[in-house]
Amino acid sequence: MYLPVNYPIAALALAKLSKAITLTGDPSLTMDLTADAADNAILADYDITVVDYLFTALVATTEYNGSSEDTSVSDLTFTATLNDTDALLINECTVTLTDCKVVKHGYSSNLFEASFFGVNSALNVQNSSTVTINTINVTTHNGAANIYAWGEGTTINVSDAWLYSSGPAAHGLYAAEYGTIVGTNIRHYSGGNRCSSFAGDSPAGYVTVSDSVAHTAGIGSGIFYALGTITASNVTGWAENAPVLFMDGEQTATISNSTLEAGLLGGIVVFSSSEIVSGATVKFTDTTLIATGDTMPALWFGNIIADITLETTTLTTASGVLVSANYSQVTQAFDYYADYSDNSALSPAQVTVTVIDSDLTGDLVAYNESTISWSLTESSSWTGTTSIGYGSAYFAVSLDATSSWTLTADTCLENFTDSDTTVSNVASAGFSIYYDSTSTANDWLDGATISLSGGGSLEPGSC
Ligand SMILES: *[C@@H]1O[C@H](CO)[C@@H](O)[C@H](O)[C@H]1NC(C)=O
Ligand SMILES: *[C@@H]1O[C@H](CO)[C@@H](O)[C@H](O)[C@H]1NC(C)=O
Ligand SMILES: *[C@@H]1O[C@H](CO)[C@@H](O)[C@H](O)[C@H]1NC(C)=O
Ligand SMILES: *[C@@H]1O[C@H](CO)[C@@H](O)[C@H](O)[C@H]1NC(C)=O
Ligand SMILES: *[C@@H]1O[C@H](CO)[C@@H](O)[C@H](O)[C@H]1NC(C)=O
Ligand SMILES: *[C@@H]1O[C@H](CO)[C@@H](O)[C@H](O)[C@H]1NC(C)=O
Ligand SMILES: *[C@@H]1O[C@H](CO)[C@@H](O)[C@H](O)[C@H]1NC(C)=O
Ligand SMILES: *[C@@H]1O[C@H](CO)[C@@H](O)[C@H](O)[C@H]1NC(C)=O
Ligand SMILES: *[C@@H]1O[C@H](CO)[C@@H](O)[C@H](O)[C@H]1NC(C)=O
Ligand SMILES: *[C@@H]1O[C@H](CO)[C@@H](O)[C@H](O)[C@H]1NC(C)=O
Repeated sequence: MYLPVNYPIAALALAKLSKAITLTGDPSLTMDLTADAADNAILADYDITVVDYLFTALVATTEYNGSSEDTSVSDLTFTATLNDTDALLINECTVTLTDCKVVKHGYSSNLFEASFFGVNSALNVQNSSTVTINTINVTTHNGAANIYAWGEGTTINVSDAWLYSSGPAAHGLYAAEYGTIVGTNIRHYSGGNRCSSFAGDSPAGYVTVSDSVAHTAGIGSGIFYALGTITASNVTGWAENAPVLFMDGEQTATISNSTLEAGLLGGIVVFSSSEIVSGATVKFTDTTLIATGDTMPALWFGNIIADITLETTTLTTASGVLVSANYSQVTQAFDYYADYSDNSALSPAQVTVTVIDSDLTGDLVAYNESTISWSLTESSSWTGTTSIGYGSAYFAVSLDATSSWTLTADTCLENFTDSDTTVSNVASAGFSIYYDSTSTANDWLDGATISLSGGGSLEPGSC
């Protein structure tokens, strides 16, 4: 297992919450992981010249190419042992696979070719193909994606899949170049680094998954990697050494009825790897998100303008931090929060979180000019405070009349709005809210000081 360079091992071991979720049918339970340890120790090497074209035509052991009629096959096993070779390549046709098996060995000699075109995948579906898969077992070694979709108009509909991989950059369901994958009843395990269960890639991939179980062990291996859209419901997922969701740029993730546990960086990590962009959107509904590490916030943001909705959702952290917004990003190493020396285009994060019918405990922490706007609506409750991680930072808190806030320390807000104009829905526990009387959002307070229940007050000021 890899440990992040900036975490002391003892602290990590002591502070982690224990695994809280049960992964029924996790493929790792029946596989010999020690036999794949060397494979899983191979680091994904993207430190090579980026290529956005195919060096040579795709090579596969078996190809279905441009068939004018539908192809339906069952009970077949597809294999590949050579490097840079797909086991099954489907191009421009309609195929149904039933009760099939794919076993793939062989390395990628260029991970950009693998990521952008599906070179060396187990199953590679390209160019306006429509593929329906009912019951499949895909095993890959040496670093190979399980099921890959490429190109606008390409759709894979897969149900009842068992996916296991060892080696780097071996995603489970993986869609690129506007390809689409819809999966249900998927069991996924990856042991390598940078192998997310359900992933999109450049410029966008669309992945929808339901009723599934996913487990990733490696650094940079999330349950979801959003480049495009991720839609998930009823997914139980454990990312041992990654957030459950990485999102790079203006992407959308909509996750419901799920239980997800993350072991490194943050519960989710939303960032832009180039310049700051707006439009990153994440919505959790009826979901439990667990962040086990002692410094991991539930929701982490850097160099991004993001909109988050939490509806009937639970956030569980060991750190006591619900949200971090930072002048930062993550790099391709995926194991630390980067600074200016890694990306001179960094900007502070600007995060808007709308909480609906949820009860949350923990703090909002913003760094170096970042902002967090936090709205409690529809019978939500929050126990916690705001704090500045570095330099100056800005917070806005708003409550509707059905929601409540229990303070755990003094807080300084740029903006405070409350539909209950007597502010009876704030329990101060002796602490105070200091608001910026020059902000127009606070005009309704007219510079007043209001006594809060519990002995503290709402008053103009700063801290
Ligand atoms: C598929 O068939 C087309 C037309 O015959 C050909 O140009 C293309 O190279 C084939 N693709 C593969 C992957 O064999
Ligand atoms: C396949 O890739 C592996 C790992 O890079 C390399 O050691 C091996 O020589 C390659 N095999 C061939 C036939 O090129
Ligand atoms: C898919 O289409 C693209 C663009 O026409 C082509 O470069 C690529 O080789 C095709 N894929 C296959 C498998 O033939
Ligand atoms: C899938 O195939 C692998 C490799 O052949 C095998 O070890 C595994 O038990 C199979 N899984 C299921 C659920 O049959
Ligand atoms: C996928 O296939 C299943 C059955 O094989 C079907 O019920 C479902 O509607 C399909 N979904 C999509 C999005 O095509
Ligand atoms: C959720 O998914 C699991 C499979 O992981 C399935 O057994 C269960 O029936 C699903 N629950 C619902 C409500 O569909
Ligand atoms: C979530 O689960 C509940 C109860 O099982 C169900 O009624 C609801 O439709 C599910 N929502 C989604 C989006 O899957
Ligand atoms: C915040 O960002 C700085 C770099 O700007 C980094 O050193 C620090 O570790 C980050 N902390 C968190 C909690 O994101
Ligand atoms: C804070 O932001 C400034 C740019 O405004 C940057 O130069 C500096 O490196 C940042 N410091 C940290 C610790 O993030
Ligand atoms: C506070 O309100 C002002 C005026 O509406 C707005 O410009 C500013 O962005 C808000 N601050 C935060 C942290 O949301």
